[in-house]
Amino acid sequence: MHIRDPKIIAGLAELSAELQHGASLANMTSLGIGGTTDLVRIRKHECLPDLLNLLDANDIQYKFLGGGSNLLVGDGELPWVVLQLVRPEPDVVFDGNLAHVDAAADLGRMITFCAKNDLGGMEGLIGVPGTVGGALRMNAGAYGMQIGSYVREVKLYRAASRKIEVLRGHQICFEYRHTSFAPDDMMLSVILELPSKPFKSILEGIRICNEKRRSSQPLGQKSAGCIFKNPPGASAGRLIDELGLKGLSVGDARVSDRHANFFVNAGHATAKDMLRLIADVREQVQKKFGVSLENEVVVWNA
Ligand code: EPU
Repeated sequence: MHIRDPKIIAGLAELSAELQHGASLANMTSLGIGGTTDLVRIRKHECLPDLLNLLDANDIQYKFLGGGSNLLVGDGELPWVVLQLVRPEPDVVFDGNLAHVDAAADLGRMITFCAKNDLGGMEGLIGVPGTVGGALRMNAGAYGMQIGSYVREVKLYRAASRKIEVLRGHQICFEYRHTSFAPDDMMLSVILELPSKPFKSILEGIRICNEKRRSSQPLGQKSAGCIFKNPPGASAGRLIDELGLKGLSVGDARVSDRHANFFVNAGHATAKDMLRLIADVREQVQKKFGVSLENEVVVWNA
């Protein structure tokens, strides 16, 4: 999608947004897959309602991109523009045990910055790529913890009211890789309440999680993390592994040899390849185990 109308371009500039034509989503996602479209970078949260009104009034569809680390984007020219928050400086501010964090902050950097200020609890998420906003929207979790447990307050753009609102933690439902946010709500910032812990002991927790992750996941390769959610009481990775599907490929899309729930882009995989691989594996798991695997990865297919 190309925004060509000078009136819209001027309107975006008035709302302090930056417009970049022909951005490659392959360059903006950890899978390295995806076509091209215009990118609108948002500098001021408070301009978002007017900006979305401008896009709606001109029938321009949009999607909201976080860190692109849990995302499979379709190929070719995409029929919507992509919105992304510009990361402010600083992106984390402390007030006792509360960390005020911008949604555009990098999750890993936020965790280490909190650690340096003797605030812990999030060690399990170290090594999970992406932004804090992305982690929040899907309630990212690992090694027995999830980000939702620490949320005191969230500022977001609510699609239902078309306004920026603040929700208290108890107004949000956080479940396994799922939240009560609507699909088109946009995370803007969060207040996390983190337990005090000495830097050294947080660092030790981080070291242990890093080691576990390195030994079981294909970290050096292009992936979107786990492709499927774990079905109740089972591990999707183990089911796929038991079927002997490690290494199964469609084009350059490949089931990782290291962890069977990670599908990697081993070269120039397309979204079409990856979607076929996902469908093949899902079908085989369904046939053999009678289990219907649900996507964990978010798919933006035109
Ligand atoms: N297993 C296999 N073969 C495989 C992969 C796993 O037999 O190819 C076995 C393991 O040996 C283990 C069990 O399956 O006994 C579970 O594996 P693992 O500990 O790797 O955890 P997981 O359930 O596959 C979940 C999350 C990961 C998270 C890890 C660590 C989901 C879908 N996955 O993986 O999150 O990092 O636990 O806490 O919930 C992600 O969300 O993208 C993600 C990678």
